[in-house]
Amino acid sequence: MNAGALYQRLVRPFLFSLSPEAAHNLAIRNLRTISSLPSVLRQLERFKPPSKPTSVFGLTFPNPIGLAAGFDKNGVAIPAWAALGFGFVEIGTITAKSQPGNPRPRIFRYPEQQALINRLGFNNDGADVVAARLRVLRESGHWPAIPIGVNLGKSKVTPIEDAVGDYLYSFRLLAALADYIVLNVSSPNTPGLRTLQEHDALEQLLAAIHCENEATRKPILLKIAPDLSLAELEQIISACEQHGIAGIIATNTTLDHSDIPPSRDQTGGLSGRPLREKSTQFVRVITSRSQLPVIASGGITDAASAREKLEAGAQLLQVYTGYVYRGPALLREIAEGL
Ligand SMILES: Cc1cc2nc3c(=O)[nH]c(=O)nc-3n(C[C@H](O)[C@H](O)[C@H](O)COP(=O)(O)O)c2cc1C
Repeated sequence: MNAGALYQRLVRPFLFSLSPEAAHNLAIRNLRTISSLPSVLRQLERFKPPSKPTSVFGLTFPNPIGLAAGFDKNGVAIPAWAALGFGFVEIGTITAKSQPGNPRPRIFRYPEQQALINRLGFNNDGADVVAARLRVLRESGHWPAIPIGVNLGKSKVTPIEDAVGDYLYSFRLLAALADYIVLNVSSPNTPGLRTLQEHDALEQLLAAIHCENEATRKPILLKIAPDLSLAELEQIISACEQHGIAGIIATNTTLDHSDIPPSRDQTGGLSGRPLREKSTQFVRVITSRSQLPVIASGGITDAASAREKLEAGAQLLQVYTGYVYRGPALLREIAEGL
C-alpha cells in the first residue's frame, strides 16, 4: 500500500473516529516525539516531494508548499514537518500571554464539503515559552533547512486599543528566532481582532512593527481575512506597500458559511474547499494591483486547486484543511502537478 492509500484507508478512519481536537492533539503529540528521533524522521522522508526551490522575500524555499498557521501553534514538531517535506512551516498564532482558548468543542468536521469550522481562539503557550522552545531548537543544531515563520496575534485579555503593545511584546521575543514574522489581524475567533485591518489601526500596527524591525530586519507579512470588501482590500494593499510589508497571506478562514447546511452550522471560521474560490479571487486582486508577493491559503486540497493559486499569481502556498483530509501524500501530489 502506498503512503496516500495508507492514510486514506487506515490512518484517517482512525483519526476521524476521535473528536477533531483529540485527533489533532494525538497527531501533534506523535510528531513531537518523532521530532527527536532521527531514525524515524528519516522514515518520514519517503513522503517528501521533489525539490523545486524558489526564492521569495529574500528566503529560499525548497518547494513552495508550506504548513499553514494553527496546525503546530506552539512549534513543538518543527523537525517532523520538515522531514514530511514541507517547503516551509508557519507556527502560531502565538500571543504575548499564554491562553487556553475557547470552551470545547471548538473544531468541527464537514467531510462532504472537505471543510472544517474552528473557533479555537488562539489557544497557545504564549510568546515567552515558545521563544524558549525555538531557542533550544536553534541551539540543538536540529533547526531544519526550511524557512520557519512565526505568526503573531493579540492576547484575548488585552484590550483592542492596546493591541500594538501586545504584538510588540511577542515580536521582540520571537523576531530574531524566526525566518519571517506574520501579523495575524484576521482570525475571526478573537473579539475585535479583525478591526485591526481597518485603516488607522492597521497603520499604527504596521508603523510600530516596522520601526521595531530596524534591528532584526526580518520579512514581515500580513495575514488577511477573505471577508473584506474590495475597497478595504485596496486600502490594506497600500498600507502594506507604505510600511515595508514583505508579503500578504491570503487568506484566513471565512465567516461565510453558505456552503454548510444550516442544521449543522457552527460559530467560527470556515476553511477548506468552500473557501477555495474566494481566496483565489483575493490572490488575483492583490497580484493584479501590487508587486507584493502573496502566500495563498484557502481550499488547497489537490494539485488543481494548488495550480489555480499559482496561476492567480501566488508565489507560495499553504495547506491546513486539505492536509487533514488528504494526509502527507498531498504534498507530493501538489508538487508533481505543478
Ligand atoms: C483548526 C484550525 C486552526 C487554525 N488556527 C490558525 C491560527 O492560529 N492562526 C492563523 O493565522 N490561522 C489559523 N488557521 C487558518 C489556517 O492557517 C488557514 O489560513 C485557513 O484554514 C485556510 O486554509 P485551508 O483551507 O487550507 O485550511 C486555522 C485553521 C484551522 C482549520
